[in-house]
Amino acid sequence: MTLGAFLHPFCRPTRDEFITIVRGEGALVWDDEGHEYIDGMASLWCVTVGHGRREIIDAVTAQMRELAVYHCFEPFSNEPADRLATEIASLAPMPDSRIFLTTSGSEAVDSAIKLARLAHVRAGRPGRTLVLSRDRGYHGVTFGGMAAQGLPPNQEGFGPHVEGFENLPADDIEAWAAFMAEHGHRVAAVLAEPVQGAGGVYPPPEGFLEGLRRLCDQHGAYLIFDEVICAFGRLGEWFGATRFGVTPDLITFAKGVSSGYVPLGGVVIAPSVHEPLEADDAYLLRHGHTYSGHPTCAAAGLANLAVLRDDDLLARALIVGARLSAGLRAIEADGLVAEVRGDGAVWAVGLGPDRDAAQVRDRMLGDGVICRPIGPDTLAFCPPLIVSDEQIDRIVDTLASALR
Ligand SMILES: Cc1ncc(COP(=O)(O)O)c(C=O)c1O
Repeated sequence: MTLGAFLHPFCRPTRDEFITIVRGEGALVWDDEGHEYIDGMASLWCVTVGHGRREIIDAVTAQMRELAVYHCFEPFSNEPADRLATEIASLAPMPDSRIFLTTSGSEAVDSAIKLARLAHVRAGRPGRTLVLSRDRGYHGVTFGGMAAQGLPPNQEGFGPHVEGFENLPADDIEAWAAFMAEHGHRVAAVLAEPVQGAGGVYPPPEGFLEGLRRLCDQHGAYLIFDEVICAFGRLGEWFGATRFGVTPDLITFAKGVSSGYVPLGGVVIAPSVHEPLEADDAYLLRHGHTYSGHPTCAAAGLANLAVLRDDDLLARALIVGARLSAGLRAIEADGLVAEVRGDGAVWAVGLGPDRDAAQVRDRMLGDGVICRPIGPDTLAFCPPLIVSDEQIDRIVDTLASALR
């Protein structure tokens, strides 16, 4: 067996057959054999505005002609990065926020964790280092985010892990309250996805996020929302925090901020976190990536935000979600799936114990629809927000016939 040179992410290293995607337009992509697929996952939860948007392509091209790349370490900056940060800060639920920029969700999560710990240190609270997160949480694959994950299979074989992380039950606020009563003085931050995505698409139980906010306030910890999937329209608002009416101290974002056209992510930082860093004028923040504030990525982000606004895609998310979830619930009523979960325009079905999600996915691929198996029994759906009603119906019909 000869394997290709490309070692694929989240893939069996021995896999030697792939579907090679060559083109995308709107909610559709095509492979190199000419098969057409509805992109029911917006690539990996990211292509919110759909494929082939000229506005983003033109903005990126124009920016590359002018200044493709320059770093933003002291003393440099660039106009797209400045404008993007200002725009994201104006959309964020925390007044007077500042924005740190990255090129992935994992970097955003690690940055948020580092900033939370650092802010405590700068504010004279060095004993606060513990980071709490939820079972089933997905927070990326770098060492910080991996340690914070609540999905043990993603941690196996990569140890020793970073110290100072603790997983607590995903939905049980009483367990959190008990833990905080004992250890709250050591907690730097609580890290939580408003809607858990890669762990299976689980919306928060009623009052749970409010409970986390309350516990953080009571015990002096920061609240970090990991909104790598939730932010920028997926839940019908700019941020999941707004969707659920709970205001955190830090918000991580990626994916939808550029619709994935070029790698972009970052952290929204409330004054509670950035002010301690600003207290001493001589202090130098020793954290940042070569591509933090990359001008071409920032130009893509600006153009993407303009498309989201101009095409009213936040409102569209709720329409997409209503139609998709109604279709999935009809399948549930027919007894074909065990459970339907989701919020906004991100949904999943629990297939029940006798089904193999990967098999159903493969069957649907054969019928021209892309979805994503999560674990053995969950299939996720997260289409671009420009998906048509007819395409949503085709996603649902294809799932039903695959299950039948
Ligand atoms: C909630 C959440 N956090 C972090 C990440 C990691 O992002 P990336 O794959 O861009 O590093 C993801 C990716 O799916 C995610 O869903």
